[in-house]
Amino acid sequence: MRIGLFCSGGDAPGMNACVRAVVRSALRAGHEVVGIRRGYQGLLEEDFFVAQDGRPRMTLRCVSGLSRLGGTILMSSRSEEFRTVAGQRKAADVLRKHRIDALVAVGGDGTFHGAVELADHWDGQIIGCPGTIDNDLLGTDYTIGFATAVGTAVEAVDKLRDTAASHERMFLVEVMGRYSGYIALYTALAAGAEVIAVPETPTDYPQILEHLKVLKARGKRSIMVVVAEGDEEGGAENLDNNLRALGCPFSTRVLKLGHLQRGGSPVPADRILATRLGDFAVRSILDGQTGKMAGEINGQLRLTPFPETFAQHKPLPPELLELLETMAS
Ligand code: F6P
Repeated sequence: MRIGLFCSGGDAPGMNACVRAVVRSALRAGHEVVGIRRGYQGLLEEDFFVAQDGRPRMTLRCVSGLSRLGGTILMSSRSEEFRTVAGQRKAADVLRKHRIDALVAVGGDGTFHGAVELADHWDGQIIGCPGTIDNDLLGTDYTIGFATAVGTAVEAVDKLRDTAASHERMFLVEVMGRYSGYIALYTALAAGAEVIAVPETPTDYPQILEHLKVLKARGKRSIMVVVAEGDEEGGAENLDNNLRALGCPFSTRVLKLGHLQRGGSPVPADRILATRLGDFAVRSILDGQTGKMAGEINGQLRLTPFPETFAQHKPLPPELLELLETMAS
């Protein structure tokens, strides 16, 4: 069997570990892997990964030492052309031309939407691995890259706490998460932030201001507010402007962490998750499965049909929101 492998959408730490796992598992089972560079766009352009021997096949050597590397050696993209039916038909033609029997797609909700659309034009098997820092997919407790992104954000907030305490300031730190407050919530819990603003809950200005005033009166010298970029108030900058206009009792500074969170060597949890899911994706293909995402739920490997993974954004656990409120009080 010839298995095509690509990464798509925003890159995530651990994607390389997943690539390594897919290649090792497939080769061990006696199959071939064609690495497709730059996601769906690379597929349209027949941009294949070329190994040291000059062949467009992934070898054991190609993926040696890859687990610890951030980014993805296959590179990634968001393809406008593939969003069109003509693009999807062309992609299917490319897959037939190169006799690819099955695909492993590593990415987030956009990648899996694309996989569903591709299946209308191509009858090969498609299995997905959840590679996104956002952790917003159903069908897996965690996505590949989330743990590393949270680690990066926590390190930043810890550092800001030092300078905030020295200057008696409040920092509003914006973390990624276009539609999801997962990174914000986990960062806030781990770093002991006093306030979070996430898309899943409305921002209650009077309540936040009251909370800040109580903390100020209690002698608190520094405040950390973690804001998800997708918060309905429009991110940290807006939240800061609004809080200031309403009489914020602290002097404030804003920091947007941005793409910094997508880089760096993956933490062990991401490497292990990526390795398990990459191997599981290959085994699922060999079992005849298609149209599903490989995930891990309560430690168990599970397949979930693509449409169910993005039917809604994974809700935040209410008990963790409550825990944060208790810790921040
Ligand atoms: O989906 C992952 C993500 O990192 C989001 O958190 C963020 O909103 C988006 O990608 C940024 O995308 P781009 O790299 O295209 O600016």
